[in-house]
Amino acid sequence: MDFHYQELSAQKMEEIIKQVSQKYLTREASLHIEEKGVSNFVTEADKAIEKGIKEELSRLYPWIQFLGEEGEDQNVDFSGAVWILDPIDGTANFIHDLRHSCLSLALAINKEVVFGIIYHYYTGECFYAKKGMGAYLNGSPIHVSSVKELKYSLASFGTSPYYKEEAEGICDNLKKVYLLCEDIRRFGSAALELSYVACGRIDLYLEKGLKPWDYAAAIILIQEAGGTITDYQGHPIDVSKPCDILAGNGVVEKKLLEAITL
Ligand code: IPD
Repeated sequence: MDFHYQELSAQKMEEIIKQVSQKYLTREASLHIEEKGVSNFVTEADKAIEKGIKEELSRLYPWIQFLGEEGEDQNVDFSGAVWILDPIDGTANFIHDLRHSCLSLALAINKEVVFGIIYHYYTGECFYAKKGMGAYLNGSPIHVSSVKELKYSLASFGTSPYYKEEAEGICDNLKKVYLLCEDIRRFGSAALELSYVACGRIDLYLEKGLKPWDYAAAIILIQEAGGTITDYQGHPIDVSKPCDILAGNGVVEKKLLEAITL
């Protein structure tokens, strides 16, 4: 198949996302909830948006595999091309009408993320990046922050709500980061928080045990915006697996790893 990811249009993807989501992202749909596990919920909207996006992508790119947060079949061959979708990142926010949730869609080829788009459902902010072609917010180039010191860094910390049994380690890390940085934020959507690192609103983001659909699109966004995104040891991420994620502006996350062990 003669497919060049360079030709993917972020504008076209944004149109598809808006078209599909506006039908389903309703207050009514947010009230039809199933419990998947501890603090882990899915709404009718998550399922309907995933189905709608999957159908549209399969129609346009039938040779690309699909991995979605809500899909039953999670067996894909990562040596080929795979769409990785989180239909609503920030489902808890959506359920509570906190109006801070997004869709996150990535394209990985042979485990390398080459395209990513993150669409904030409530502000209309659309973050996207393609390998070697820069990172953008609503058409304007974005860049990570220029903060050089941890003490002037604003860090966003994901609390890994599904792993309550690891509360002690997670809270220890929170305390260590809090003591070293200017302050901590917790917004409830990993994909948006990672987008905020890419555009320089925050300087650092970390969360234990994120799933590929939470972080995949942000890998290319942060890399193209001049930052780094790794695991808690500073190693590259394997996008086919859950991972502890540390992202930053290329300077402060390295200083964090020199100062503490996560
Ligand atoms: C969750 C959100 C949340 C993070 C969780 C994620 P979901 O994604 O990103 O902020 O703390 O780890 O799983 O379930 O809303 O798609």
